[in-house]
This record gives sequence, C-alpha cells and structure tokens, in this order.
Amino acid sequence: MLKYFTAGDSHGAALMGILEGFPAHVPISENRINQILARRQGGYGRGVRMQMEYDQVRLISGIWRGKSSGAPIGLLIHNKSMHDAASVPPRTVPRPGHADLAGAWKYGFEDDFNPIIERASARETAMRVAIGAICQMLLAECQIEVVGHVRQIGSIQAPKLNLPTDELRRLIMQSPVYCADPITSERMVQLVDNAQKTGDTLGGSFEVITFNTPPGLGSHVHYESRLDARLALHLMSIPSVKAVEIGEGVKGSQQPGSQMHDAILVDSGTVVRGSNRAGGIEGGISNGQPIVVRAYLKPIPTLRQPLPSVDLATGVRTPAPYIRSDVMVVPAAAVVGEAVVAFVIAQALLEKFGSDTLPEIQEHLKFYRNKMKNRFPS
Ligand SMILES: Cc1cc2nc3c(=O)[nH]c(=O)nc-3n(C[C@H](O)[C@H](O)[C@H](O)COP(=O)(O)O)c2cc1C
Repeated sequence: MLKYFTAGDSHGAALMGILEGFPAHVPISENRINQILARRQGGYGRGVRMQMEYDQVRLISGIWRGKSSGAPIGLLIHNKSMHDAASVPPRTVPRPGHADLAGAWKYGFEDDFNPIIERASARETAMRVAIGAICQMLLAECQIEVVGHVRQIGSIQAPKLNLPTDELRRLIMQSPVYCADPITSERMVQLVDNAQKTGDTLGGSFEVITFNTPPGLGSHVHYESRLDARLALHLMSIPSVKAVEIGEGVKGSQQPGSQMHDAILVDSGTVVRGSNRAGGIEGGISNGQPIVVRAYLKPIPTLRQPLPSVDLATGVRTPAPYIRSDVMVVPAAAVVGEAVVAFVIAQALLEKFGSDTLPEIQEHLKFYRNKMKNRFPS
C-alpha cells in the first residue's frame, strides 16, 4: 500500500517526508520536484514568508541512479526561516479561524501555543507537494496526467473551458493566479489588489482534473476503498479547504436525475459516455472518464484589521495579533490539490495494477486498457 508521513514545523530545521510502497524503476527528477515546489511558493497574493523561502528538496533514500529503488523514499526540505524556541515570545492571544485556540486547549498550551501554530501552518504542504510530484512521475509513465487550476477567487469565477491537457497547462502557467482564462485572471488580480489595500483577505476554489485515468480505480466494496471518499479526505486535509465537490455534485443536487446522470453509449466497439457530470467516478470506482474534483477555500484567517480575541493568560479582551500573512492562497492550494490527487490516484493505480516494478505495472495497464477499447469488436 502506498502511504506517506510528514514531520516538521513551520520554523523548525526542516520538513521531512517518507513515501513508502513506491515501485522500483520510476525515473525521478529532483529538478522537476523543485520546479513544482516553486509553483506552490508562487501565485499572486502570497506574503513575505514565501519570498524568504526557496524550497529545494533533498532525496535522501529510495533512489538509485535517478530511478526509484522500491525502498522508502526519504525527503528533506530545509527551512531558511528558522526560529530558536528560546528567542520566541510566548503566544497567548489566539487568532480566529486558526488552530490556535482549539489546539491550545487540546494539548494544554494555553500559556504559549507556539507549538500549535508551528505544526498547523500550511508550510507542511510543501512536503506534500514534493511527495505528490513523485507520484506524478509514476502517473506520467502510465500516461495519466493530473492538472490543477484556479476556478474562482472571491466572487470572480472563470468560465468553463473544455481544453486539451497541453493547452490547459500552457494557459495556467501564463496566469499569475494559475487560472486558465486570461481575462478572468486579470479581474482576479485586481480583486486581490483591492483586498490587499483594504487589509482584507480572500478565498476561492480550484479544480483538479485527472486525464486518461483507467476505469476500475477505487472500489464500492468498502467505505474506505471508495475513490471519491479518498479524494475528499485528502483534499479536505489541505488547510483552508472547507468543501469538496466531485464532478457536478453541487449543481446536480438541484436538478432532476435525467439532467445529471451520464448516458452510456457505444462507439466503434468501445463503451463511451454522453457527458461527464459524475466527474469520472460512479459507485466509488473510476469509470474511465476524466476525474474532476473541486475544493473550496475559506478566506485567509489572519487579518490586518483583526477580529476580537481574548488573552488566554489573563482573560482580557485583546485584538487578534497580525502575523505576516498571505492575502489569498488559492493558486498555491491548487498546486497542493494537484499533489494530493496525484497521491490518491497513484495509490489506487498501484492497488489495481500494482507490482514491485514499473515495467510490470505498465504491462498490466496496457493489457487492461486494450481489453476496454475492444469490448465489442466488429
Ligand atoms: C498554501 C497555503 C498557505 C497559507 N498561508 C496562510 C497565511 O499566510 N496566513 C494565514 O492566516 N493562513 C494561511 N493559510 C490558511 C491556514 O493555514 C488555515 O486556514 C489554518 O491553518 C486553519 O485551518 P483550517 O482553515 O483548515 O481550519 C494558508 C493555507 C494554504 C493552503
């Protein structure tokens, strides 16, 4: 079973990760991981912390001559912005919308909840992006592509685009907010500028599409095996994500069934679908259509015009402190979303076609894809 662990604090020495269950002989590029890490750090609306960090991964085990060896892959990302615990003043005024208050109570840190801030910080997502990038390298060898893009920032929403993968990627790469529609991108940038000026923050949503996914990933047989449930878990675990949607789930909930479900048709001996409102998953199993998932983020909780709070040491009403902060992180979250989806798809792919080596996985997959293509030979 493919699984991972992360450890490390926002201002500790480093973030650490272990990816276990990864097959041998997958080409792994540290440069490519670093490029994707740079995308997480970028995106319009980020704050000064991201200008201080320049994330570089070190792969310290599980790689032999540029390819995975089958052993656990150990990863390290050093923090440039480090704190010595002795020099950090205690924090006793919790910020609304953060883990500060609930974490201080839960772990008994009412006199100083710095340890809660350190681990709850989205800095941890840098390691998840690195792990997801490695999963994307396995998927690429199986001709599966995962692409994340920003759909909405505040009240501004991009129109639906039906583009081939390369074109979608090209447009996203050109946009400061990782949105594939250039006109909407400009409007989003203006909205972020306005929020910055007024000291406010924004949320939004991103979409992740998995192209060329084979049918049969995930399973209906057990609640934990369902692919939609697994995607929702991993997307919801990204800090700030408050809702997850599979396909047209939200719109579909307001429509009659005849306008939601996707007809099953046959074309040149192959079963095809009339539409993809299910987002590529039925009964917890991928159905061969692109997998489409969306995640919705609340606005950043750290505010320059702070909300009221209470000093936990004294019980005195005190405005929440402002700690340097991003104004809007939906583009960065889309990169994290792409990573976590890549992990879930890679995990499900290995369950179905799994083996110790990449060539064996590719062989199983090729056989299965061919079988699906010529279901009704003429
Ligand atoms: C990539 C990324 C960067 C973030 N940066 C900040 C930030 O600079 N300031 C902030 O207040 N929240 C930031 N957040 C959001 C908080 O981490 C998050 O809202 C907080 O930990 C509480 O978790 P919850 O929103 O899931 O309840 C960021 C989130 C992500 C995904």
